[in-house]
Amino acid sequence: MTEFKGRIKENDIDAVRERNNLVDVVSEYVTLKKKGKLFWGLCPYHQEKTPSFKVDAASQLFHCFGCGEGGNVFNFVMKVEHLEFPEAVEFLAARAGYQLEYEAGKSRELSKRERLYEANSQAMLFYQHILLKTAEGEPGRTYLKKRGLGADIVKGYGIGLAPQAWSSLGNHLAQRKFSKEELVEAGLIIKSAKGHYDRFRSRLIFPIADTRGRTIAFGGRVLDSGQPKYMNSPETPTYHKSSTLYGLHLAKNDITKEGSVVVVEGYTDVLALAQAGVPNVVATLGTAFTGEHVELLKRFANRAILVFDADAAGTKAAESASAYMSEFRPPKMKALRDFEGRSAESGIDVRVVVLPDNLDPADYIANHSIDSFRELLDDAEPFYDFYLTRELEKYTISETQEKEKAALAGLKFIATLDPITHEEYIGKIAQRLGLDARVLAVRFRSLLGKSAPRRGTAFKTALDPQEKTERTFLHLIMKYPRLRGSLLADIGGDYFVSPAHAKLLVVLKGMGAGKFDTKTLDDLDNSLKAKATEVYLTEAEYEEENLAKYFEDISLSLKDFYYKRQISKLKRELESPTARRDQMRYDALFGELIELEAKRRDLR
Ligand code: UTP
Ligand code: MN
Repeated sequence: MTEFKGRIKENDIDAVRERNNLVDVVSEYVTLKKKGKLFWGLCPYHQEKTPSFKVDAASQLFHCFGCGEGGNVFNFVMKVEHLEFPEAVEFLAARAGYQLEYEAGKSRELSKRERLYEANSQAMLFYQHILLKTAEGEPGRTYLKKRGLGADIVKGYGIGLAPQAWSSLGNHLAQRKFSKEELVEAGLIIKSAKGHYDRFRSRLIFPIADTRGRTIAFGGRVLDSGQPKYMNSPETPTYHKSSTLYGLHLAKNDITKEGSVVVVEGYTDVLALAQAGVPNVVATLGTAFTGEHVELLKRFANRAILVFDADAAGTKAAESASAYMSEFRPPKMKALRDFEGRSAESGIDVRVVVLPDNLDPADYIANHSIDSFRELLDDAEPFYDFYLTRELEKYTISETQEKEKAALAGLKFIATLDPITHEEYIGKIAQRLGLDARVLAVRFRSLLGKSAPRRGTAFKTALDPQEKTERTFLHLIMKYPRLRGSLLADIGGDYFVSPAHAKLLVVLKGMGAGKFDTKTLDDLDNSLKAKATEVYLTEAEYEEENLAKYFEDISLSLKDFYYKRQISKLKRELESPTARRDQMRYDALFGELIELEAKRRDLR
């Protein structure tokens, strides 16, 4: 970050900061509600049902009291868009239509990440050239034709072909001044004992892009029946497969238009559906559909329709379910959630289609009409129902004992859902198992009674009274520079039990009468940023006019805690065998103890 500040002008960073109000920027990702002086919402960084994400318009700082993330507008964007500081500045500059100036004279050097993007993009063009323009590309072109994929799709998705030779891409990019290390880091070449070689050889290439359309990885399919069928780029600093969806950059406008997205499992399924006229389609990249995917999609869609192969459906659903259950919004619940004051955008209506005869989407539309596929989409089952059915099917419900177990499994599942849905789903279980819904409801309540405390409290870390006092103390001297005066002079790091608090105290003391604001945050160590926003956005209970008194009380209790700790330390020492054997030492310690106790009394 500091390295970068030399390149984008400091003034520009501040100009971008001023043009991007944190509340507006956050609102593009999270629905915020004003409560008192702060805005509250559901944290975009972790899954939660009750808001612990706070945004303060006045200080332009945010903090999540659930997962502990915090920062200013740059940090928000870095985290939510997976960007580094310079990229976040560029992102927000573009958002505000502000033209950044780079240091005069020099053409800007690319950051490491930008070089990764550039290497991937050059690789994509290389593979595309091989496929479309060379004799070596012929088998690839034939293969695509055979699969019914037209030129528009092939070009649109940037499909290419990796040549057979061991180092054609490596050599090509070396000529373009990419180092071996960079290409290894980009996942494009592999280092072995004998040297470097291309990761993808003799494979059809499917470029994987981020939402902004930058190529970040590749999938490569054999043209014959070789193994493995697919090879994929490894995770890199720019590619995280659990938060990437294949084809999203091309589908996002159609997804917004339709309000829904079709989620499949294969590259070729995406291509086949897009070709057949279902453009709002994406694929997971060999992973389960996760909460991160939901995060990504809920910016564009209200509904996601997962299309599973029949054989794997059960397992796939189970994998997904545990990962993102809390993100699902059951159908028809939107209005009620609004009424409750929660964000209607907090979840997404997830539905499931299982294709018959073990076909994948590409096979299905090759054998059936696209209209019949659309009908399947229209009839997609809500994820909850689908999952519940799978749970119940695990038991032979003709046997009484098994039926009991099935009911319990079903109820346990329901307990993880939004309370609004409980009654409805209890009814469904009752109906399927042929049990009395009222009896089940009683069972359910006793089940909830046992597990209730777990709901929503998983992340909250309780601070002990000492740490709370430290936090309030720091909060006050952060917000009111004028308090950083005499009282503070003798309160040092050793008065604090939390090392992070102690570090923050040093920073604040060093600021003199300077204002703590979002700029200050940019200069803090990353490890201290979230602590600082936590301290800043913690609400203390005082009236503005009683501030001086309140601050004095807080300072006194800090000192009191301090003396108390010192006193018990001394007492422990006094009781130790060494002190007991050494009369002089004992007397000295005892003298100190008397002194400390007197000091402590004087505090009051
Ligand atoms: P499939 O084996 O179903 O392939 O894997 P596919 O997409 O239908 O491909 P075609 O139709 O045979 O050409 C589904 C997805 O799982 C991942 C890929 O993302 C693939 O698209 N996969 C599969 C791998 O990553 N590696 C593999 O070896 C197989
Ligand atoms: Mn297939």
